Amino acid sequence: MKEKIQNLLEKFKGKSSEEIIQLSFAEFGSRVNFATSLGEEDQVITDMIAKAAPQIEIFTLDTGRLFPETYELIAKTQKRYPLNFKIYYPDTKAVEAMVQAKGINLFYESVENRKLCCGVRKVEPLRRALANVDAWMTGLRREQAVTRSNLETVEWDEANQKIKINPLADWTLQQVHEYIKKNKVDINPLHAQGFISIGCSPCTRAVNPGEDIRAGRWWWEQPDQKECGLHNNPKWKKKKD
Ligand code: ADX
Ligand code: SF4
Repeated sequence: MKEKIQNLLEKFKGKSSEEIIQLSFAEFGSRVNFATSLGEEDQVITDMIAKAAPQIEIFTLDTGRLFPETYELIAKTQKRYPLNFKIYYPDTKAVEAMVQAKGINLFYESVENRKLCCGVRKVEPLRRALANVDAWMTGLRREQAVTRSNLETVEWDEANQKIKINPLADWTLQQVHEYIKKNKVDINPLHAQGFISIGCSPCTRAVNPGEDIRAGRWWWEQPDQKECGLHNNPKWKKKKD
């Protein structure tokens, strides 16, 4: 697998994000899909897929706790792009048992509870979304978080045993904004209210200008704990000298 990843890294070297998307489809066909949270980066990738490789399946994980604005953006995006867009839901019984045992807002009580909720509402549905692919694409960027500082365009996703492709790995937030403006990409209206990285509503808040990109996610936790289990590659963390 190391060799395959090395090969892909070489193939993608110096290529634009659109080309990376096209090359990924040429390489994997229906065995690659794209995970969107409807965030700004993801909306850029959706727009690129519609233009460069519209056969690629797009999926989102509806945790049941998203913002109303996010649901509206899902509907708008599905309408605008005639793509194969799938929505995955958590297992009803698992949600019921968790809420019964720990309460509806269990995540504020401990990191353990928060990880349990993310596990039930995101990680397990992600397993199902990835069941029939060899590779998945994400909107991750290196500068998003301390936990993402070693992010590569292509990586081995140990937890899911899949190849992970990050076409915007080295983009800056400014590049994301320029693409959105130029291509009139629809984005979540919450971004204009100070929200940068948007996840579930009880676990996301607006940040002040100059604050860290991820400061509004699970703000009651330490920065190095803020990964929900969708992306937890230990290699990403920069070693302390
Ligand atoms: S998270 O791990 O903290 O929730 P973040 O919101 O930064 O992740 O998003 C990073 C990437 O993970 C997104 O670009 C997208 O590819 C994927 N992702 C995150 N949340 C979801 C979701 N609810 N459904 C599908 N993909 C998601
Ligand atoms: Fe649960 Fe919050 Fe994780 Fe959403 S982000 S799955 S509400 S803990």
